Amino acid sequence: MNIKYQLYGFLLFIALVSLSSCQSAGGNQTGSEYMPDMAHSVAYEAGVYGYYYNNRWGTEDDLYKMVQPRNPINGTIARGYAGSHQAEGGRGISYKANGSVPYYYANTEEDRTRAIAEIINNPYPITKSGLEKGKQLYNIQCAICHGEKGDGAGYLVRDDGGKYPVQPANFLLDDLINSSNGRYYHTLIHGRNLMGGYSDKLSYEERWNVIQYIRSIQAASKNLEYSEKTNTFNTTDTPYAVVAAKKKASESVISSTDTGIDSTATMHAKDDHAKNSHH
Ligand code: HEC
Repeated sequence: MNIKYQLYGFLLFIALVSLSSCQSAGGNQTGSEYMPDMAHSVAYEAGVYGYYYNNRWGTEDDLYKMVQPRNPINGTIARGYAGSHQAEGGRGISYKANGSVPYYYANTEEDRTRAIAEIINNPYPITKSGLEKGKQLYNIQCAICHGEKGDGAGYLVRDDGGKYPVQPANFLLDDLINSSNGRYYHTLIHGRNLMGGYSDKLSYEERWNVIQYIRSIQAASKNLEYSEKTNTFNTTDTPYAVVAAKKKASESVISSTDTGIDSTATMHAKDDHAKNSHH
């Protein structure tokens, strides 16, 4: 074999390779590449299935599965949800301006039981304005069935003489009085049997306003007090007066420690200054 021909062949091969690698990429094609699999990563774009034929990672099916929409992990806080709203009384309660707060209890009997067991405290302190808002919302949204007094004898039941197919709950019964706030909140989100849910009609704060108002009717029926000042009705809802007193107490503690910290901070600053001036 003539070494000269081998050399020509080799040069021809080099020329062809370099020519073919000169095909540049355009808007609709990737161009030709030699060993492309390291030059391009698998392109992920949320919700977009763009199969890249030069891809060597996995099968076409694997890639297809990877771009399918997935639910966020439980406990994920969406952007914009983390803002802290200072509710009356200074408790930081985070929710979005549109009142949307994630709720991790499904519309099943099992999750209802869990909600009743786990959702205990009303996150808002009892306030006069909250009760007023709750009353207004209750009379608009609930009273037609549950009655203005909360006795389950609302307009639809009373006037239509049984035309409404089921009896709305009587909030004045001991069963409902003794139930946790979770029973109410869960019902407001998912509804219950023939009652529809109110998650799209009442915001997070409004749901709790309504629950507070129901509690105040229940308390009145038992001659107990449930107000901004005192709560002799249950232990799960805090009157604003208690929150305000606690806040005041902690503020005076903070201001007294503040002065302590200030004086030491000044001392350290002086020390630093003295040290620095030696250099
Ligand atoms: C269209 C009529 C109707 C309206 C309006 C309505 N409810 Fe009801 N509600 C019912 C009926 C009927 C039941 C009984 C459901 C059952 O137990 O089968 C019920 C049951 C309940 C229960 C008890 C659920 C349980 O765990 O047993 C709660 C709490 C409740 N409603 C709260 C409310 C609140 C708060 C509002 C207003 C935001 C409201 N409802 C508006 C008809 C209504």
